[in-house]
Amino acid sequence: MNRLIPIPESPSLWRNRSRWNVARFWNWTVRRRLHEFTSRKTHRSLVPVFTGAGARVTQEAGTGLPHTAVTQGQLEVLLAAVAESETMDSPIVEIGSFRGVTTRALAAATKRTVVAVDPYLGEGGHEKDLALFREHTDGMTNIRHVRDVSDAAFTSWSGEAISMVFIDAIHEYLHAWYDFAAWGSLVAPSGFVAFHDVDAFPGVNRVCQRVLKECPQWKPWAYAPNIAIFQRRD
Ligand SMILES: C[S@@+](CC[C@H](N)C(=O)[O-])C[C@H]1O[C@@H](n2cnc3c(N)ncnc32)[C@H](O)[C@@H]1O
Repeated sequence: MNRLIPIPESPSLWRNRSRWNVARFWNWTVRRRLHEFTSRKTHRSLVPVFTGAGARVTQEAGTGLPHTAVTQGQLEVLLAAVAESETMDSPIVEIGSFRGVTTRALAAATKRTVVAVDPYLGEGGHEKDLALFREHTDGMTNIRHVRDVSDAAFTSWSGEAISMVFIDAIHEYLHAWYDFAAWGSLVAPSGFVAFHDVDAFPGVNRVCQRVLKECPQWKPWAYAPNIAIFQRRD
């Protein structure tokens, strides 16, 4: 496990505490909002730094796809990372799978298992989205759905290394940072962390800025509008 980045307490744990809990009030009600405020103030384009680092940079998002916010252009860079890591055997994990369109595309492009983590609790994904997930991933034998929130799925994970994680669940700073620190710790050398909504959501954008600034073991690998991919150095 890549333990260089401490794994913080999951913000979801604070939310689930009693409304009168002081730690909940501070962390969930105050600190979380302050982080979103700071993220809005520090939001910036990732293009210059990805370009400067020699990453693959595309300026076109490409056409939209039905049942997902992921565009054709974003899918292309994701699938390039899948192809680049195809010599690895360990699973690919998608945090937030919604209607399964990206899940299916990832699974169709690899022999590896794709683990889709999504609780369908009404926060972005509902029962009707789960029904569509099942429809879209029907017949794909290398997809495993974990119906749980990110932190619970991580806590019950076997510890097996993974080759790639696509982070696309709750787009606030503290949640996205937790997903990166936790799931990123499982990524084997040369594997990938991909973030969706890096331009649309200030919190995710700020997580990418923090990775660039504080995590030299993660190299900027590819960018297309609203998606950024980092590769773990050996
Ligand atoms: C933006 S959608 C994911 C889109 C999907 N990756 C795609 O490419 O089509 C966000 C998903 O995150 C899920 N979600 C919400 N909270 C979550 C959590 N704590 N852990 C994992 N998934 C979560 C929602 O149910 C929703 O389906």
